[in-house]
Amino acid sequence: MPTPRGSVVVTGASSGIGRACALHLDGTGFHVFATVRKAADAAALAAAASPNLVPLLMDVTDEASVAAAARSVTTAVGAAGIAGLVNNAGYGLPGPIELVAPADLRRQLEVNVVGQVVVTQAFLPLVRTAKGRIVNIGSVGGKITIPFGGALCASKYAIEAITDALRMELHPWGIHVVLVAPAGIATPAVDALQRDGEAAIATYPPDGRRRYEAMFRTFLQRAVAKEKKGSPPAVVARAVLTALTARTPKARYPVGADATPLTWLPWLLPPRWLDRLRFKMFGLPPRFGERAD
Ligand SMILES: NC(=O)c1ccc[n+]([C@@H]2O[C@H](COP(=O)([O-])OP(=O)(O)OC[C@H]3O[C@@H](n4cnc5c(N)ncnc54)[C@H](OP(=O)(O)O)[C@@H]3O)[C@@H](O)[C@H]2O)c1
Repeated sequence: MPTPRGSVVVTGASSGIGRACALHLDGTGFHVFATVRKAADAAALAAAASPNLVPLLMDVTDEASVAAAARSVTTAVGAAGIAGLVNNAGYGLPGPIELVAPADLRRQLEVNVVGQVVVTQAFLPLVRTAKGRIVNIGSVGGKITIPFGGALCASKYAIEAITDALRMELHPWGIHVVLVAPAGIATPAVDALQRDGEAAIATYPPDGRRRYEAMFRTFLQRAVAKEKKGSPPAVVARAVLTALTARTPKARYPVGADATPLTWLPWLLPPRWLDRLRFKMFGLPPRFGERAD
């Protein structure tokens, strides 16, 4: 049912930040179309929301499913278009670059980068109709890289570039494009990090295990402990609401524990100083060349 605030589409709404955004926007009077990949997640989300929220099945890597979701929303909103598209779906692939499987790296970029662009292209006609907004969920990892997070950070750097380009390209039509860049949000992705990290270790060849296992485990331990103490996803949902409703939204909203200092550190510190800080944070050996294997 259309609401005075208009309609928004939120991707990846089964859990974490996407779910929090979908429920917050629903609770603040938007007509929310929330995309999930499983029917059970659609039912759980609908049970937690108002009758206005419409769950849709969509996988951002499946162009036919993206097109079908866009058709469903077009049929539902008619000539009104949509007030916002929140590109949130994504995940993180942990591991050392030396050992990342090319297929896994392709999948990371396919979901986090190509998928967001495919969704944006499919829903842009509806955004144009309503002079709506596009909100991309990036990451502080789009400004600062962490060891063993190279694949995920690469995808988030790419989203920074795509968001910047789109913001300038859609400027002539009065369409705002905003990046919300979270850091340290406690979501189910934290458990996935631990699980996926362990699963990756199990696939490493003996040499790879000998070289990286202990360091990577220390990284996982520290990263998981830090994320578990992170901010609740509701803080991101509030930033997304601001991005969608502020008269003139900022181009970028860093949000969550330490997001602002982490965004600025790469500008303030020379790269090798920043490396030393990151070695310390994630337990990597600080001395250059100290390993002989
Ligand atoms: N948590 C943080 O600290 C943090 C920090 C910076 C940025 N972010 C970003 O915030 C976004 C949400 O992360 P989160 O922490 O809320 O993680 P999450 O709880 O794991 O949620 C990720 C969502 O993305 C969906 N998704 C994954 N692959 C998909 C695909 N191929 N097609 C459609 N949906 C897909 C998941 O669906 P399924 O349930 O079906 O897998 C889920 O709904 C991500 O873009 C992430 O990079 C998170």
